[in-house]
Order: sequence, then structure tokens, then C-alpha cells
Amino acid sequence: MAEKSAHTLAQTQNSNSLRKQEQLRINLEEDIQFKGLTSGFEDYHFVHQALPELDLADVDPSTTFLGKPLRAPLLISPMTGGIEEARLINLNLARAAQATGIAMAVGSQRAAIEDPGVAVTYQVRGVAPDILLLANLGAIQLNYGWGASQCQQAVDMIEADGLILHLNPLQEALQPDGNTNFASLLDKIGRVCREISAPVIVKEVGWGISEAVARRLASAGVAGLDVAGAGGTSWSEVERRRADRQAGGHIAAAFADWGIPTARSLLMARRGAPGLSLIASGGIRTGVDAAKAIALGADVVGIAAPLLKPATISPQAVIQAIQEVIEALRIAMFCIGAATLTELKDSPHLKVKEKM
Ligand SMILES: Cc1cc2nc3c(=O)[nH]c(=O)nc-3n(C[C@H](O)[C@H](O)[C@H](O)COP(=O)(O)O)c2cc1C
Repeated sequence: MAEKSAHTLAQTQNSNSLRKQEQLRINLEEDIQFKGLTSGFEDYHFVHQALPELDLADVDPSTTFLGKPLRAPLLISPMTGGIEEARLINLNLARAAQATGIAMAVGSQRAAIEDPGVAVTYQVRGVAPDILLLANLGAIQLNYGWGASQCQQAVDMIEADGLILHLNPLQEALQPDGNTNFASLLDKIGRVCREISAPVIVKEVGWGISEAVARRLASAGVAGLDVAGAGGTSWSEVERRRADRQAGGHIAAAFADWGIPTARSLLMARRGAPGLSLIASGGIRTGVDAAKAIALGADVVGIAAPLLKPATISPQAVIQAIQEVIEALRIAMFCIGAATLTELKDSPHLKVKEKM
């Protein structure tokens, strides 16, 4: 990995990096989880199996995703990059992903496409040679002059195995400086899928993917979807905090309970795109949530906010948080007699709560 000195990054700060710094600070210091809306996983329960007929030591949550082996079906969801603070965060996340054998995505690389000087804040391959690593850009940039070549650049910049394009119409609409022309984007996403060398996954950022959107994205040729549903980090809350310092916070506040809860979005995406790889993120907080997401049809589960603070501390702090999720996932599998993820996916023991 290019170990370029980071202090030159300070010279490249612009309004985008100030916005990113402010968003990162709000995410780290304020309560910006959804209010009045939950991920929906609490509506489900596993029926406990007191006779699992399994040795816990034999429960194996390993899988393969986009052709790479994972020791557990987990992804560190895209969060940051482009500012100096992000460099250490991404390195700590990557070291933890390498140590635990899970996947990782970097935050939006728009800053580094516009200013290659900040690419170093995303480059983690040097500390994570074996992980499934995913690049990240906002799909909206395809309507503001970018195309397959910038997407390929994002992949090459970090030696990624795939590209995540995020859809964030509400976030852009709530930002005073947002890019809000989402017209005719689907064809452009399709073109990127055809023209770059890596698989393309499309995600939301916390308001979910509907069945109709999943169907249209599948027809455009995406390899997978991350529903990034409602119930975890709320970007309307983040924008409300930013707006409080400007004006019009009440507009963001009106969207406090907007979005498709993650569990519901997962079912919608499965129906709309039955053949696609599927990631569930948005409010996944424990290994039991992860187990429920997989039993509802996810292949991999993404976690963002709970790993952010540990990533400012050390790789060990991130590793500990990940290991807790993996251990709870394994124990949940054990207590329903599922030795593998295939058995978990096919489990007859996940029930809607009132029907238990
Ligand atoms: C600090 C922070 C920054 C984020 N930045 C991005 C981003 O650049 N690109 C993206 O696709 N999603 C981004 N997200 C959204 C997450 O990847 C994830 O979909 C969402 O936060 C829901 O997961 P959570 O409830 O576990 O946080 C960000 C989330 C957080 C918390």
C-alpha cells in the first residue's frame, strides 16, 4: 500500500471534506439512530430447540460471497474516506476484517476521484491482502458527468473485488448542497455493470430497497443488492443535526420515520430479485439480528455504525465487536440446530412473534 504521508491531506480540504468531517463527528458523538421506526427484526423469533443434536464447536458460519471465502457472513458497511481522520478508521476496520475473515467496503470515493491526493485514506489492501474488499461511489454521480471509467478507477484505486453504488435520493434532497437529479439513472447503472471488470452491488444508505426497485436493478444487470433498510443509522437525523446549525431542520425532522424497515425490505428484495446476492444492513446490532436476516434470505449481513467508534480506537476494539456478533450468530445457529448457513437459511424455526 502506498504509505504516503497524510499531513499533505490537510491542504486539500474543501467544502466536501468539511461536510464529511461534520457528518463523521455527528455520527460519533450524537444519537442519530432512527426514532419511531425499527429494523423489524424484533417482529421475528426463533423457536428455541432444546435438543439441537449438535456440538457448538461444529457450528460453522463460513460462506463464499462474490467468489471469495468469508469466515462469517459479515460485511463492514461503507462509512468513510477522503479526510485525514478516515485513514486510520479505514486501516483499523481493514485490519479487523483481515483478522476475522470478513468483508469490508470503504466509504464513498468521490473525494479521491476528484482529488487523487486523498486516495491514500481509502487504500487498505496493504493491511488486508485477503479480504473481500468493495469500492463505493454514489450512483447519482452518473448523472453529473461520471461513467464507467470513474467507477473502474474507484475499483482499481483500492484493488477492490467489486463496486458498491449507493442510492441516496432522500439524503441528497435533505442536504442544502445535495445532487438531486435522479432522472434516468437506471440505464446508466446498467452501462456501468456491463463496462467495468468487477461485479456491481447497489445499496441504499438507510431507507431500504423496495420490491419494484429490486426488480429494476436486477434487470439492469447488478450482481447484488444491499437493502440498507431503515431502523439503524438515520441520515435524516444526521441532516437534521446539520440543519439545526443552518436552517430548515424541520424538513429533515418530517422524515424521521421514513423508510422501509430492513427486515421488510429484505423480503421485498428477495421477491423482486430472487436470483441476486443479497446483503442486509440497517440496524443489525447483534448476531441474533444477523441470524434472523440470513433466515429471511440475506447472504451476508452489513454493519456500519456500531463499528465506527471502535475503529477510532484500535483494530482490537473492532475485532472484539465483530467477534461478539459472530459468537452470538453461532450460538443462535446452535440453539436452532443449524450447523451451517445453508441450514440456517432453510430453517423452519424462524417465526413471526405472535404466531409462536
Ligand atoms: C458514518 C457513516 C458513514 C456512511 N457513509 C456511507 C457511504 O459513504 N456510502 C454508503 O454507501 N453508505 C454509507 N453509510 C451507510 C452504511 O453503509 C449503512 O448502509 C447504514 O449506516 C445502515 O447500517 P447501520 O445501521 O449498521 O449503521 C454510512 C454510514 C455511517 C454510519
